[in-house]
Amino acid sequence: MKRGRRRGSAGGGRTAGRGGGSGTSGRGAGTRRLTRRSFLGIGASVLGVAVAGGVSVGYAFRRINEIGGYAPERLAALRGGASSMLFDRYPALADVVPWRPLTTLPTPVSELPQLDGARDIRLFVKREDLSAPLYGGNKVRKLEHFLAEAALLGRSTILTVGATGTNHGLATALHGGALGFDVRIALYDQPLTSHVRRNIHGLAGTGARLQYSGSVAGALLDARRVLDNDPTAYFIMAGGSSRLGTIGYVNAGLELAAQVRAGTLPEPDRLFVAAGTCGTAAGLIVGCRLAGLRTRVTAVRVAEPLVTRALTIRAMARDVAAFLHAADATVPEVRIGFGDFDVVTDQLGDGYGHPTSAAAAALEWAAPRLMLETTYTAKALAGCLDYCRGRARPGETVLFWNTINSAPVRAAERLDALPAEVRRMVGT
Ligand SMILES: Cc1ncc(COP(=O)(O)O)c(C=O)c1O
Repeated sequence: MKRGRRRGSAGGGRTAGRGGGSGTSGRGAGTRRLTRRSFLGIGASVLGVAVAGGVSVGYAFRRINEIGGYAPERLAALRGGASSMLFDRYPALADVVPWRPLTTLPTPVSELPQLDGARDIRLFVKREDLSAPLYGGNKVRKLEHFLAEAALLGRSTILTVGATGTNHGLATALHGGALGFDVRIALYDQPLTSHVRRNIHGLAGTGARLQYSGSVAGALLDARRVLDNDPTAYFIMAGGSSRLGTIGYVNAGLELAAQVRAGTLPEPDRLFVAAGTCGTAAGLIVGCRLAGLRTRVTAVRVAEPLVTRALTIRAMARDVAAFLHAADATVPEVRIGFGDFDVVTDQLGDGYGHPTSAAAAALEWAAPRLMLETTYTAKALAGCLDYCRGRARPGETVLFWNTINSAPVRAAERLDALPAEVRRMVGT
C-alpha cells in the first residue's frame, strides 16, 4: 500500500489525516488583552502542567509495567500444567511472566465470502470472539496474565475502569468473578447503542461492584482513591493495555503463524484489528515479527487520537519486545518502527462509541456469520472492507481479527446493582 495516498486512511505507522485545519486565527478581543506578563504566566503554567503530567504518567506507566520476581514454582502452580505458544517457544519466559489459562486456543480461522468489488481478494476472519466459552473476545488473553499476577500478589479485589458498555469490564467481572475475585469497576460515559445496553444488563448480573464516575479522569481518580485505601486491590488499566496485557497478544501473533504453517490460511498480507488502548495491535505486531510473518498489522482507530495513536502503538510494541528479550535472551531483539505497521484513521466518525454509516454497513454485511458491534469491530471491518475494495493488490490475503465476544451473556433480571446514573441511562 502506498502511504498517505488518501487522507485519513492507512499510513505507515504515522497516522495520515492529521493537521486537518481546525480554527487557527485566534485573534479575538481576549488575545489583544493578553499582557506580556500574563502570557509568560500562562506559558509557565502550561509547561508546569505538562511536566507534572508527563512525570506522573511516566511514573504510573513504570509502576503498571513492573513484572517479575515471582518464584517459578508459584508460576508453575498457576499454569496448572498448561502452556502457551510463547512459553513453548521461549521456555525461560514461563519462569518470569505470570499466566493462568482462561482461553480455549487456538481461536478458529474461517474464510469470508467473496466481497463485491474485491473478487480477487481472499478475506479471512480470526474468530477471537470464541476465545473462551465464559466470555470471549480480545480481553481474555490479557486477563490470563492479570488474574495470574493478582493471585501471585495475594490480592482479592480486581479494580478496573471502563466506559458503560465496557467489554473489558464485563470480561474482567466474569472471569475474575469465576476465580473468586471481588471485581470493582469505575464507569464513564459512552454513547448508548444496543450493544452497550446489552453489556450494561450483563454487567448488572455479574456481581461486580459498579460505580459511576462520569468521565475517564473521574474514573481514574476514583480508582486511585480505592487503591490508596484498599491494599487487597489489584488495578488493571482501561482496556487491559499494559506490558503484561500486551504479552497476551504477542502470543496471539505466534498462534497466527502456527495456523499459517499448518495451512489453515495463507500468510495474510494484512491483518485488520480495532485499536482502542492499543495493546492488542502492539502485541500482534511483535508476535507476527517474532514468528517471521510478513503480515502487516493495520490498526483501525476507534478511540480519540490522543488515546489511539501510532506513537502509543510503537511505544507499547517496543516496550514489550525489549522486555521479552531482556527476560529471555533467546527472544530475538526486534525494534518496531513507524514503517512496520499502519493506522487507519478515517473510521472513527464523531468519536469513541459513535456509530458511523460505514460501520453499520459492515455490521450488516457480516451479520449472517459474525455478531459485530459499532464501537470496535464494525469500524475495524469497515476499514478492512474499504481496503479490500480500494487499495488491496489483486491476489492479496486479508485477515480481519474479530475482537468482540460472541458467547451468550446472561442479562440481569433486576438492575439494582447498577449505579443510579447508569440505571437512568438505560431507562429503568
Ligand atoms: C471488542 C473490542 N475490540 C477491540 C478493542 C481494542 O483493544 P485495545 O484496547 O487493546 O486496543 C477493545 C478494547 O476495549 C474491545 O473491547
